[in-house]
Amino acid sequence: MTTCRIELLTTADQIDDVLAIEQASFTNPWTRDMYLAELENRGVSYCFLARNDAGRVVGFCSFWRILDELHINNLAVLPEHRRTGVGSALLAHVLKEGERLGAHRATLEVRRSNDAARLLYERFGFSVRGVRQAYYTGPVEDALVLWREGLTAAAGS
Ligand SMILES: CC(C)(COP(=O)(O)OP(=O)(O)OC[C@H]1O[C@@H](n2cnc3c(N)ncnc32)[C@H](O)[C@@H]1OP(=O)(O)O)[C@@H](O)C(=O)NCCC(=O)NCCS
Repeated sequence: MTTCRIELLTTADQIDDVLAIEQASFTNPWTRDMYLAELENRGVSYCFLARNDAGRVVGFCSFWRILDELHINNLAVLPEHRRTGVGSALLAHVLKEGERLGAHRATLEVRRSNDAARLLYERFGFSVRGVRQAYYTGPVEDALVLWREGLTAAAGS
């Protein structure tokens, strides 16, 4: 297990680290302009960074808090740091933070073929509640819509 420090992204100069992880992880990565716009959406949009002992940002998780719902937009870890607990640490932190902000349930979309993420979310109490057909491009694929009811229960343990 990697020990990591989790911190809120608060300034534009931290976006480069997120973009590097986006580009290493997704076929349609979010852009700097998208993250700059998110930064302006205070009170709704949050992005947490995971920093390892060496001070390197190795993962991030972004979400919107909309009324009592937490909408997780992106979760990713640098390929060489995967499977060391960073994704779990981020997700646990985000669920706790969402609860602190007043959310009672959480949702996200995941590619049907993304077994790694699906297993992680399942471990955190998420279950499939819907399908958006051909939602993703590059390659075209269905999105599974996952929900978790209640954020108070211990997650991922
Ligand atoms: C999904 C992702 C964020 C997981 O991050 P991670 O730091 O590797 O996850 P963790 O080390 O905390 O893994 C926790 C558990 O998830 C499951 N898991 C994670 N990666 C897995 C893999 N490649 N194969 C099978 N199970 C996996 C396992 O149950 C794992 O527990 P274990 O290692 O004790 O078996 C990471 O694989 C990633 O960045 N993928 C690319 C981006 C992505 O698909 N994001 C999700 C978009 S919805």
